[in-house]
Amino acid sequence: MMNMFVLGTIMALFFSILGLCLVIWILLTLLYTRVPWVKTPEKNIALLLENCIITPSDTVYDLGCGDAAVLEYIERKTGASTKGFEISPLAYFLAKGRIATRRLKTEVVFENFMKSDLTGATVVFCFLIGDVMQKIAEHLQTALRPGTKIVSYGYQFPDLQLDSVIKTRPGDSGASSFYVYSIQAKR
Ligand SMILES: C[S@@+](CC[C@H](N)C(=O)[O-])C[C@H]1O[C@@H](n2cnc3c(N)ncnc32)[C@H](O)[C@@H]1O
Repeated sequence: MMNMFVLGTIMALFFSILGLCLVIWILLTLLYTRVPWVKTPEKNIALLLENCIITPSDTVYDLGCGDAAVLEYIERKTGASTKGFEISPLAYFLAKGRIATRRLKTEVVFENFMKSDLTGATVVFCFLIGDVMQKIAEHLQTALRPGTKIVSYGYQFPDLQLDSVIKTRPGDSGASSFYVYSIQAKR
């Protein structure tokens, strides 16, 4: 009886410490990236695919893919190859779970995309927020091949030349848009 009590206490302590470590890890990741996990609504991804052609020969990278819902949608609707980069542990595990349970081909890696090889992409999708956009824009100009299309949801990249804007609700100035860019060849 005593042994069961001790074992129970040790187990409870173990899982409490594990839970606390996970919460601290998630908070530290958020402090580091300064980008919380927020999902692009599926209806907006559908709208993007109506306006931006992605073919089965494309390779689409989602920089900060969250639970890989965007990649699943793109894989199913276009047949393109898809890959996601995610640094938040919770979002990464959910993405891996989605891929396994839905038998998706998409690949998700637990990596900081600022340090990853991005040269395989023909299309880059991202939903990143705020003052990190400047630093990421500078990085993408050297990390991507010329001709690579970039689609940013919600936030614009300073210093990149805008090709087009896809409004999710034309006429509603408060609605989010997709900002489409392409990497220019160096002169
Ligand atoms: C706003 S969410 C977007 C999720 C998904 N792309 C979507 O549109 O539904 C941004 C995600 O980017 C991840 N992230 C931010 N900076 C990152 C980095 N440097 N490397 C990998 N993931 C990053 C965050 O952890 C977060 O899950």
